[in-house]
Amino acid sequence: MEFEGRDIISIRDFSLEEIEHILESAARMEARMGERLDLLQGRILACLFFEPSTRTRLSFETAMKRLGGEVIGFSKAGAASVAKGENLTDTVKTVANYADVIVVRHPREGAARLAAEASDVPVINAGDGSNQHPTQTLLDLYTIKKEKGRLDVCAAIVGDLKYGRTVHSLAHALAMFGASLILVSPSGLEMPPEVLLDLKELGAEVTAHNSLEDAVREAEVLYVTRIQKERFPDPEEYEKVKGAYKITLDTLALAREDLIVMHPLPRVDEISPEVDFTGHARYFQQVRNGIPVRMALLALVLGVE
Ligand code: NCD
Repeated sequence: MEFEGRDIISIRDFSLEEIEHILESAARMEARMGERLDLLQGRILACLFFEPSTRTRLSFETAMKRLGGEVIGFSKAGAASVAKGENLTDTVKTVANYADVIVVRHPREGAARLAAEASDVPVINAGDGSNQHPTQTLLDLYTIKKEKGRLDVCAAIVGDLKYGRTVHSLAHALAMFGASLILVSPSGLEMPPEVLLDLKELGAEVTAHNSLEDAVREAEVLYVTRIQKERFPDPEEYEKVKGAYKITLDTLALAREDLIVMHPLPRVDEISPEVDFTGHARYFQQVRNGIPVRMALLALVLGVE
């Protein structure tokens, strides 16, 4: 299994064994969290964020610094030369001279793959349009494994399944591990046909529900997502579906006692704040788990783990 020098663009590029290896490496990182680690001393991470981010960028930066490395980059495309008309390829070719690894987030599907082709240092996809968000999926898997002890769970995935990149990556990975999936979305925001086909090819048991209640009754994992307002071609369409699903204490009254509620965050109004105080909420644990998972990924692609 070779990770050194490798790009992390899509979860589909990884075998089950490779994903397990990353999760094991993350567990070792977590166990060493209190120590002063200098595995990546002298190495530089560049974060190129052409789209807003709180957790993904800051957790990559934290992960790099916790391993003794340094961070450069920008978090607003307007602050970089793209604002002068520079293309992504030229930006990445430039930055590959400064950094040992590049994390890129971009509004266009396929941008991370393009960046990887232009770069001679590893590129990690931090989200490309509505396509993929592999590192979020790895921390989601890490969280589910930690909480449930296994990945062949019954997971309900709720919200914007059309434009949500986190759910495209997650559904594929869960299917690889034998999970059964209940998909719940407002009409018009269903899982794209090519993702459904992929899930079928993986032999996954997939059901689609419009009723949140039925899904909540059955699920062991409830993965809730935001309606991706910024990806709607027509703002009026967004108005029709906004606020379609909301997880409240009443919703959870139907749930199994051991149901865990997850969300990649940011949330808008999909999970009411009172849920935070129940034994079901795990979204802030996901945030926490993002650090060891990203430490593991950086160490692996830089060949020190
Ligand atoms: C997600 C994203 O950017 O796709 N956020 C994240 O990275 N945790 C989810 C979202 O924006 O809704």
